[in-house]
Amino acid sequence: DKTDPSLLNASSAVFAKAINIAFPSARSLGIDIRAFRCKDVKHGDYQCNVAMPLYQKLSALGSLPPGVKSPQMLAQSVVDVVVAMDEGENPILCELSVNGPGFIMCRIRPAFLEDGVNDIIRDGAPTRPKRCGGGGGAGDDNVVVVDFSSPNIAKEMHVGHLRSTIIGEAVCRILEYAGMDVKRVNHVGDWGTQFGMLIQYLKEEYPDFSYDGNDDGGTGSSAMPNITDLTVFYKNAKSRFDESPEFKRVSQLNVVSLQAGDGECLRIWKMLCDISRLEFEKVYKRLDISVEECGESFYNDKIPSVINEFDQHGMISVEDGGAKCVFVPHSKVPLMLQKSDGGYGYDSTDMAAIKYRIKDLRARHLVYITDFTQADHFKMVFAAAKMIGWVNGDSHRLDHIGFGTVQGEDGKRFKTRSGDTVRLVDLLDEAVSRMESSLRERASEGKANISEDEVHETACAMGYGAVKYFDLRRNPTSNYVFSYDRMLDTKGNTAIYLLYAHARLESIVTKGKAEHGIDVDALMAREDGGGKKPRIVIEHKSERNLALHLRFFADSIDETLNDLFPYHICDFLYDLAIAASEFVTQCKVLGSPEMESRLFLCRATAITMRQCFDLLGIRHVMRI
Ligand code: ARG
Repeated sequence: DKTDPSLLNASSAVFAKAINIAFPSARSLGIDIRAFRCKDVKHGDYQCNVAMPLYQKLSALGSLPPGVKSPQMLAQSVVDVVVAMDEGENPILCELSVNGPGFIMCRIRPAFLEDGVNDIIRDGAPTRPKRCGGGGGAGDDNVVVVDFSSPNIAKEMHVGHLRSTIIGEAVCRILEYAGMDVKRVNHVGDWGTQFGMLIQYLKEEYPDFSYDGNDDGGTGSSAMPNITDLTVFYKNAKSRFDESPEFKRVSQLNVVSLQAGDGECLRIWKMLCDISRLEFEKVYKRLDISVEECGESFYNDKIPSVINEFDQHGMISVEDGGAKCVFVPHSKVPLMLQKSDGGYGYDSTDMAAIKYRIKDLRARHLVYITDFTQADHFKMVFAAAKMIGWVNGDSHRLDHIGFGTVQGEDGKRFKTRSGDTVRLVDLLDEAVSRMESSLRERASEGKANISEDEVHETACAMGYGAVKYFDLRRNPTSNYVFSYDRMLDTKGNTAIYLLYAHARLESIVTKGKAEHGIDVDALMAREDGGGKKPRIVIEHKSERNLALHLRFFADSIDETLNDLFPYHICDFLYDLAIAASEFVTQCKVLGSPEMESRLFLCRATAITMRQCFDLLGIRHVMRI
């Protein structure tokens, strides 16, 4: 059995072992024996601060061993036990010392760091944390539903949906990496009240309309509507809705007819969905998003029995107008399961959806990714699902990731110059075209490693990567200012900087082969590493620092699995790139006596970076 690749877990385990030996009574005191990373590497790699609380507890109980007169002395006796351990018991810690009031400081053993790099070279991938890669087939407890992207039919996808899409894709990839059976669900808004007016508008504008469901838009009917731009159609319908009370009235009736299965309404509805779907799919294709549509309409026929179930539990209160509501603890507003006109809304659908996900999909973990304004809605949905007993707090985990607003440089909600919401496609086009010109400029300076026909594809990888990374690298709950200049900067914590750093490492590896005859790929492919094992020798300070950073990968995954915030991986990736750039500036790689070991270190770093890009949904490039 190998040591836990998580340095946090492995070093904590050594301290726990030592404390149990030195102070056997400590175990029952419920003190958390955790090690953590030192803020300043000058003082150590890891530290453990357990000596102070442990000293207090033991002295209060009068059970301090004679001779231990201070937290420092207690810390020293822990250190003595660790130092006396053999390598089997303590494969990872060295250079232990006691600092200040009793902090135990330590370093990670060079051999442990070397093993880590060798493992990456041997496996062609960074070592997974223990929590990862488990899971099993269907029927296990590992089904997770991630509800993300979820735009609304007939409305344009906007930057808010972009956030949900980008964060959702990364969350899915990370959960999949951890061995979960992830159901990626696109809960599209295909059943809302907007259809009332859209259907009415279509009926009035295209009276001869008929649609057979082929994606040619309609049957032989001469009045086939040419609705290429659904947003314009939506705007027109909306203004008539706002202007004409009669139009408004019949529109509302359409919603009820649609939900009751009226044939004509359904036909129009289906056509509008088909047109929208094609637009959404274009965005998903560009951004490498995979998500399966299971929209609001899917739950329509499941809602009556849900209402019935709440009714049987005596949890429905009927309002004056006849609306059926469910009140949950700590909320003055109720969930509305049925409106007074008999129609169903957002709440109805979400209650049917949560039941379906738990009972039919057998999910243990549900993740919803929307903007923060929906936090109260999901609190109520979760509370109601617990109240009725579908969800059990101990065996189910429910998460709502409520992300912040995307702002323009003026600090207000991100808009175009004319004040319209920014169309997602335009925004993506802009990122790519800016990237293309920057790559061409580079080529004109003679710095490019790619040919002209690779420019577009490289610009797409970098441009989309930049947009994604700019979002993922921060806590999703915070707002951010959308800025091309900042996200496309070649310096700082951007995808562009990282993609360049990665390509630079690979270009060193390529030169190693071309100019010095050391073929890392061939050595990696051979079981024996070319007669001798790929031996990593860590000596220089910046080699050591890079190898140590590679070891943090497992912890960044663990952290991400805890709160589902991908920025932990971004932080890790950025720190790794900085450690790598310091390494290649401080240590001569090509033509040095340590060349082989150092080329492997470059490759191991590149492999780990690629893994991170992949988890974030960012395409990497080998050359720029
Ligand atoms: N369509 C909604 C919106 O655009 C998001 C749906 C989120 N998922 C859900 N199950 N309510 O805001």
